[in-house]
Amino acid sequence: MTLELGVLVSGNGTNLQAILDAVARGTLDARVRCVISNKKDVRALDRARTAGVPALVIPHGAFETREAFDRALVTALHEHGVEWVALAGFMRVLTPELIRAFPGRIVNIHPALLPAFPGTHAVRQALEYGVTVTGCTVHYVDEGVDSGPIIAQRAVPVLPGDDVETLGNRVHAAEHELFVGVLSDIASGTIGARPPMKRPGAT
Ligand code: GRF
Repeated sequence: MTLELGVLVSGNGTNLQAILDAVARGTLDARVRCVISNKKDVRALDRARTAGVPALVIPHGAFETREAFDRALVTALHEHGVEWVALAGFMRVLTPELIRAFPGRIVNIHPALLPAFPGTHAVRQALEYGVTVTGCTVHYVDEGVDSGPIIAQRAVPVLPGDDVETLGNRVHAAEHELFVGVLSDIASGTIGARPPMKRPGAT
């Protein structure tokens, strides 16, 4: 069944582009119903418009609370007929307002092999730590930072002489394939909705 997808972004949007390209090629049975950014003037919005997808800006700073911001996101996603939500470089942590509106149907892409290197500097931290293998992860989203149940991972080697840019580019290329692959599996029903689980060690 066609996946009715909403994509949340905050920046460049290369993962969004991979999704849009796969939809256009017919390799991903999805409709991107809308793209929402919490920042204006980001490249991801241009990518959406170019593909003929509604591109919305909902600035988080305009809301008193994180919950109020998330409620505005839910309203917009519902208005556009979204059933699953993909976070593609969306730099906000979700509250239950959003998570409960799409139970088990929000997925995120992260540029490391979680649970290693959560947060915003995963590629740099992998380099600094000296790992020889890093990668990317697609996971269901819960209220933590990059902490929901893992769906799929792809390993990427760290090569001698790598810097944040060269390694980041290699991880990004893997992300694009992994994310589109997981979304295809969701579209085909191979991967289903899953409510967030408690993390190991959480009380
Ligand atoms: C990706 O590395 C993704 O894993 C992370 O944010 C980055 C977004 O990149 N969550 P892009 O905007 O899709 O190019």
